[in-house]
Amino acid sequence: MKAILVGFMGSGKTTVGHLLAQKLNMPYHDLDDMIVERAGKSIKQIFADDGELAFRNMEHDALEAALDDDGILGTGGGTPIQAANFEMLKASDVPVVLLDVMPETIISRLQNDTDRPLAKQLGLDGLVDLKGQRDLRYEQVSDFRVATDDLTPLEVVETINKNL
Ligand code: S3P
Repeated sequence: MKAILVGFMGSGKTTVGHLLAQKLNMPYHDLDDMIVERAGKSIKQIFADDGELAFRNMEHDALEAALDDDGILGTGGGTPIQAANFEMLKASDVPVVLLDVMPETIISRLQNDTDRPLAKQLGLDGLVDLKGQRDLRYEQVSDFRVATDDLTPLEVVETINKNL
């Protein structure tokens, strides 16, 4: 991989990842999409049928497989939080980019979300708490961070590109 994007749900990993891949003329890989493809069902359905732990195992396997591919990888919000994934990302020589976002932005982006099981389970306050619990790990796993709140997706792409 040329770069790996990490950050909380709603931080823009997928949008920015597509645009960055387009700009660099390389494929975009989305870890959630890889899991869905492998499982043959949606993330929501995996959580409902198999539970979060099973999802985390699938996520770990998909990450391991994805690291060898070419292109840009967008991870899921919980990916770098799992200890084994954190170690794998730290050990890889691929730049890890944190898309940072303020709680207010998360709330406005996720308030009507129906696809993310954790958003549904935790509610908006719970999501903000979860972000608070995760922020240090996001910082630690990443090589650099982009504060995205006041930037357009294309501006985020430019900032990342300058730093790669
Ligand atoms: C999760 C984030 C989701 C998805 C799953 C769990 C999390 O990805 O992997 O619902 O634990 O933060 P996005 O960050 O792409 O929404």
